[in-house]
Amino acid sequence: MRRPNSIVIAIDGPAGAGKSTVAKLVAKRLGYLYVDTGAMYRAVALKALRLGMDINDEVMMSQLAQMTDIALRQQSDGNVQVLLDGEDVTEAIRTPDVSEASSVVSAHLGVREALTAKQRLLAEQGGVVMEGRDVQTVVAPDAEVKIFLTASLEERAKRRWLEMRQRGVDIPYEQVLQDLKERDERDSTRSVAPLRKAPDAVEIDTTGMTIDEVVDKIVELARQKAISLKGVKEG
Ligand code: DC
Repeated sequence: MRRPNSIVIAIDGPAGAGKSTVAKLVAKRLGYLYVDTGAMYRAVALKALRLGMDINDEVMMSQLAQMTDIALRQQSDGNVQVLLDGEDVTEAIRTPDVSEASSVVSAHLGVREALTAKQRLLAEQGGVVMEGRDVQTVVAPDAEVKIFLTASLEERAKRRWLEMRQRGVDIPYEQVLQDLKERDERDSTRSVAPLRKAPDAVEIDTTGMTIDEVVDKIVELARQKAISLKGVKEG
């Protein structure tokens, strides 16, 4: 059994619900490692693109995922550095090309198995906040705290639209809304790791909540869980 002060918190939810922002801040508050599982799929995709490999080739991609070293290094500011075979690729994995390729790569079962194994090793140590599509059901089904973060479609679209405008991207709100709607549909109906709330997950609807309020709520749930586990251990 894990130490009560080093539990696993698994966070998932639809696109635009603020998972990454919240997961990162919760990890920082608790002194935990933030495990961005999507970043690991992105790292494999980046390596494949650089090597000029066919990302649709399941066998090749699975072998590549197995023989790739991906490490996450916690920075003092709460951010996490992604190391691909020792090289810092934190920025390089965020391009549109890599986003596109990671979506293809993550649909291969062999790739998922290889990365799930790496993610489970991290979960076993405890003291982690894991974020991603299958963390609550496949990677860490025993996670002590499971959070399903949601917000209304309109709120998520508004947040994304504002964020894009801040980055200088000029796009109509209606288009962001439509894109998100389509992505929700695709995410929840895809055959590999569809978006689904785990039966024992706590759903937090963040519509109208500030980021700090959401973080406070999750940290409180984690503290309560840690206290109850301590009671079990000592009792
Ligand atoms: O969350 P993200 O955009 O960084 O994820 C990159 C891709 O990997 C995206 O297509 C979703 C996929 N992914 C996945 O299939 N399973 C995970 N646990 C995390 C991400």
